[in-house]
Amino acid sequence: MEAFKNKVWLSTPTYHQEEFQYIAKAIETNWKSTVGENIDEIERRLCEITGCRYAVAVINGTSALHLAVIEAGIGKGDYVLCSDMTFCATVNPVIYEGGIPVFIDSEYETWNMDPKGLEKAFERYPQAKAVICANLYGTPAKLDEIRAICDRHGAVLIEDAAESLGATYMGRQTGSFGMYNIVSFNGNKIITGSTGGCFLTDDEATARHARKLSTQAKEPTPWYQHEEIGYNYRISNIIAGIVRGQLPYLDEHIRQKKAVYTRYKEALAELPLTMNPHSSTSQPNYWMSCILIDKAAMCPQNRKDKTVSYHKETGKTCPTEIFERLGQMNIESRPIWKPLHMQPVYADYPVVTAEDGVSVCEDIFERGLCLPSDNKMDAAAQDTVIEIVKDCFD
Ligand SMILES: Cc1ncc(COP(=O)(O)O)c(C=O)c1O
Repeated sequence: MEAFKNKVWLSTPTYHQEEFQYIAKAIETNWKSTVGENIDEIERRLCEITGCRYAVAVINGTSALHLAVIEAGIGKGDYVLCSDMTFCATVNPVIYEGGIPVFIDSEYETWNMDPKGLEKAFERYPQAKAVICANLYGTPAKLDEIRAICDRHGAVLIEDAAESLGATYMGRQTGSFGMYNIVSFNGNKIITGSTGGCFLTDDEATARHARKLSTQAKEPTPWYQHEEIGYNYRISNIIAGIVRGQLPYLDEHIRQKKAVYTRYKEALAELPLTMNPHSSTSQPNYWMSCILIDKAAMCPQNRKDKTVSYHKETGKTCPTEIFERLGQMNIESRPIWKPLHMQPVYADYPVVTAEDGVSVCEDIFERGLCLPSDNKMDAAAQDTVIEIVKDCFD
């Protein structure tokens, strides 16, 4: 087999024609800054899609999370219960504000925050002010249970739907379960502006305040008047033009991503592995297709902080072997997001698992791998991925 000349990527942006028209119009009409009809329109559409009443478009998902953390009133020494298996951006804003993240382990059914772990964490940290729950790889967490637990404990739920735009849980869109919610339009997301994000809520006063904070907290006076610290987080009308051009294609992108996932699932069905699962009450957006190798089919793999080795055994494999074999063919894959409690930078923060001493996140990280999940991936490329994965079990 010869390596692909053009790299097969994990997930790349898919542009259409409308993006260029909206960008061109923003430039031609000189609405290039942080005001303009592209911004108004994506905020309107995001409310329509998610069902939230108010949307504040910002420069990325991380800044939307930062605004959410500020609006939740998180300050120095406040505990915030956060997903463990997620990207660092989910929790960094807690630390920006001097808060203390507590990492909550995942459950196997969705790979997301375990409601049992969350309940246990509230027993240990009853003063926790907020929960940040991410929907990993476009798969909704058990959002009804998580929300009910937050309500019982008087904590604000922040839903990090950066990866899950368009996914539903019990028929309701993700990005609408929290008091505050966010989505991301980062270059690898299902809808992208190259960058971009959005803060979403049903609360009008909070939305107004978040918008003010995102534009340097200017007071409504003819001169620059500042009475609180603000941020330069507002999206530009040019970036919003890209997002605006993409949004009509959300369903199409989800269909394509689902086809990639389904094809893997069928082709790999005979192997001792499972795909990233979802609960029967949810419809993921299938942003990322991942595999989890059965324990009995794992060859020994030894991951250190920055290095990894494995010992090949007949009939067995590990994520590292598959990752390396795909890499030799110029195909990108990626280990499952390393649990945040294992990251040196967060090593001092507490972690709570449903069963003491048993980390589901560590296990999924050890045995899991993200496969290329680009919605434009052709059948030949996917067949090669499938063949290599099968071959690794020989
Ligand atoms: C779960 C999660 N939260 C937050 C973010 C941050 O979004 P952004 O990159 O737009 O800042 C990302 C992705 O990048 C993400 O995957």
